[in-house]
Amino acid sequence: MVEITTEHLSASARDLSRAADLLARGGLVAFPTETVYGLGADAGNDRAVARIFEAKSRPSFNPLIVHLADLEEVKALVKWNHLAERVAEAFWPGPLTLVLPLRDGAPVSKLVTAGLDTLAVRMPAAPVAQALLREIGGPVAAPSANLSGQISPTRARHVLEGLTGRIEAVVDGGPCAVGLESTILGLAGPPTLLRPGGVPMDDLAEVLNTRVATRRETDHISAPGQTRSHYAPRARVRLNAVDFEEGEARLGFGDTDCDLNLSETEDLTEAAANLFEYLHRLDAQGARVIAVAPIPHLGLGVAINDRLSRAAADR
Ligand code: TXA
Ligand code: MG
Repeated sequence: MVEITTEHLSASARDLSRAADLLARGGLVAFPTETVYGLGADAGNDRAVARIFEAKSRPSFNPLIVHLADLEEVKALVKWNHLAERVAEAFWPGPLTLVLPLRDGAPVSKLVTAGLDTLAVRMPAAPVAQALLREIGGPVAAPSANLSGQISPTRARHVLEGLTGRIEAVVDGGPCAVGLESTILGLAGPPTLLRPGGVPMDDLAEVLNTRVATRRETDHISAPGQTRSHYAPRARVRLNAVDFEEGEARLGFGDTDCDLNLSETEDLTEAAANLFEYLHRLDAQGARVIAVAPIPHLGLGVAINDRLSRAAADR
């Protein structure tokens, strides 16, 4: 791969228009959403989308999420239905992705859908993401802006550590407020939770007012976020550590003695926002083992435990 210069852009109007310009010309631009930083490309440009996989060193062509700022634009790409309407009203813009049937002739590269007849769509809430998407006025395909298999980025610095020289630019919008990827809900058939994330499952079920099936671990793996080992720091990760051992980097939760505390007050929203940054930091200190205190398995804790168990999986 040829080394390119990676511009570090701000969220000013001038820099956002530069970012939009780079995207329109087939460039790769990382940008902040409220979940994690995404690596954006023009979703209608096959070459630009192909470059995403190259830049991330993603081993295979997995389907990508398309980001839009406008509901009418979403409806032009996918076949909308009443359940989509209900959850979009409750959670958009926000950390929720919907998988819906792709419309015939929708101007989206086949590389985005990996040839499937469904499309994942999301309307992010972060103002910088919205401003950029409005400036572009079309669908932007964006996986998380990290090298394949590594910890997801919640700071521009994380993006630059992994992707400098591989992408045209990163827009720096500061830390991501949610800090975990979006919840993915399949609505092309019976409602199915495809990935736990920023919108807790219980909140979704309440709004849908119907049973939500859960994808089983043994089901066909269609995505890297669903392979067992993912979000992995270099260090080994030990979960549910009630006692910390000598030499371990200690990632705590609640009132406990540790190196970094996800949330002293046991606030799961705060813990989600800190998770990836703290894994990055402990990893950068060269820890051999990161021991993580138990996290309650409710609300956002379900998504936090999902990411932690993948970080801890054998690789
Ligand atoms: O919060 C997020 O969702 C972030 C930000 C940047 O928006 N994006 C993100 O993208 O996490 P990525 O590529 O790391 O994960 C996308 C997930 C994959 O697990 C993929 O399998 C699933 O979305 N996906 C995409 N299209 C799909 C489809 N048509 N059917 C089922 N799953 C799909
Ligand atoms: Mg990812």
